[in-house]
Amino acid sequence: MTVWVYAANLRDTTVTFLPMTPDLFTRAESAAAFVLSQTELRPQIGLVLGSGLGSFADDLTEAVRIPYAHIPTFPRSTAIGHAGQLVIGKSGDVPVAVMQGRVHLYEGYSAAEVAFPTRVLGRMGIRALILTNAAGGINVEYGQGALVILCDHINLQGQNPLTGANDERFGPRFPDMSYTYAKRYREIALEEAKKLSIPPREGVYAALAGPSYETPAEIRYLRAIGADLVGMSTVPEAIAARHMGMNVLAISCVTNMAAGILDRALDHEEVLEVGRRVMGQFIALLRAVLPRIAGELQTRG
Ligand code: HPA
Repeated sequence: MTVWVYAANLRDTTVTFLPMTPDLFTRAESAAAFVLSQTELRPQIGLVLGSGLGSFADDLTEAVRIPYAHIPTFPRSTAIGHAGQLVIGKSGDVPVAVMQGRVHLYEGYSAAEVAFPTRVLGRMGIRALILTNAAGGINVEYGQGALVILCDHINLQGQNPLTGANDERFGPRFPDMSYTYAKRYREIALEEAKKLSIPPREGVYAALAGPSYETPAEIRYLRAIGADLVGMSTVPEAIAARHMGMNVLAISCVTNMAAGILDRALDHEEVLEVGRRVMGQFIALLRAVLPRIAGELQTRG
């Protein structure tokens, strides 16, 4: 949405019109109102599906599918493997808002724009956010295809979505990040993984800007500073979600071992292929976790 404001140049008589973008909060409110006008459902749980992991949204019932291009001021995803639509529907009995694809810093968006859809979800009433991604495995105990629950992250993207004037309507200037990934949700995800015979694993995710994959030396550095996984997403959304007081669960799918761990080159096609291969397990885990998080929201608020 662009609002045109009249501006006079005082040094000469030229009159120009400058585009003035409404503030982020107003944009998020407008986009949220638009999305809610498309459905009767009022989900409190949001999901963001990463590269190659989008098909969870295909089986939702009572689904309304809204292309990002139709949502006012929403950024459009250009990455391969990202459908680029917001699906509001039900997984079993649980209403959910599912982003089938996201935008990334490497597409040229600022961290604040990358986090804008999270802002919209928050203004729609989402209280629990499940972030998913494809990641490179640094911890050699993970194999290709492993599902890993994030216990923490390291932001090496060189940007933060909260940079700039703080809007208190979203949250505080200096939000605490001690409990970025909700302990209770992590426990639930680990318990449900175990029940599904998925090895219960947790790890620390290092976020880099990309789009080039890391060098083997960078991966050795990341391992030395405590990272188990590496990827190019999730962190801006997690920061914005915590800023707004949402509780976050994040799940990585290890689509490849990170650079230099195996003696071979990385390939985005392989990343998508492995995502598709573990899709069954991934969907089963999400389906098991959702009613439990819905129950938490009801009992603990
Ligand atoms: N590095 C960064 N991002 C990724 C990788 C990786 O190895 N695999 C999937 N996303």
